[in-house]
Amino acid sequence: MKRSVPDLIQAADPLVMVTAYDYPGARHAEAAGVDLILVGDSLGNVVLGYDSTAPVTLADMIHHGRAVRRGAPETFLVVDLPFGTYQTGAGDAMRSAVQVIQQTGADAVKMEGATPEILEAVTVLTRNGLPVMGHVGLMPQTATAQGGLKVQGRDEEGARRTLDGALALQEAGAFSVVLEAIPARLARLITERLAVPTIGIGAGVHCRGQVLVYHDLLGLYEGDEKKLAKRYAEVGRTSREALEAYAREVRAREFPGKEHSFVMKDEVLGKLY
Ligand code: KIV
Ligand code: NA
Repeated sequence: MKRSVPDLIQAADPLVMVTAYDYPGARHAEAAGVDLILVGDSLGNVVLGYDSTAPVTLADMIHHGRAVRRGAPETFLVVDLPFGTYQTGAGDAMRSAVQVIQQTGADAVKMEGATPEILEAVTVLTRNGLPVMGHVGLMPQTATAQGGLKVQGRDEEGARRTLDGALALQEAGAFSVVLEAIPARLARLITERLAVPTIGIGAGVHCRGQVLVYHDLLGLYEGDEKKLAKRYAEVGRTSREALEAYAREVRAREFPGKEHSFVMKDEVLGKLY
């Protein structure tokens, strides 16, 4: 059942969020009963084959967001605003968010960071009834400036910046804040200080919710394990083995068998000879 923003804020149980990028993934996530689905701009890495999220466009997010909504009509849906479509201020952020909401049917958008421009954008969007999820800690859109895809907030200055950013996002109206790749004890402190739920990825067990990337948790890429993700399946291996079996059977003329072939009456066929 789809939860409202107040339900999510007040939820006593940990919130379960997972990313999805297409119709089948969304169907699986909804059938599994997750609380929120995120169309992450991790789309760029795991679906579109880019080596960062920077090339992902608003049109890409809308295209995939629409497919996800068709697969998960009853689940709270968050869509990432991609790099360059909101950082310049509230006007741009509002236009991008309205396009996403109107064209995908999403319930909320997510933005990375807590700069003055982003805080202003969060203020304006939420004041106008557009729910925003924040995101601090490791921020892949600007990871190059953060020194690469590395754990954030280990030193006092970085920890304080992450805590202050999360507090400022809540103050600006964010209904929830993602904490990515920060020490578990810092995530616990931030979670205690915030009234709105924190959703962690690589941020320990004390966050109010957890999020994982679909492809990471399903093991869609063989041999590519990340510390912050647990693999609950080896779907990549299963998929490759199935494709190999198919190729083998085609080459051996074992597929299609009788059970996959259509029949015709002898007398009809006889007339053709
Ligand atoms: O793009 C994404 O998948 C995300 C999650 C990791 C939070 O932003
Ligand atoms: Na993202």
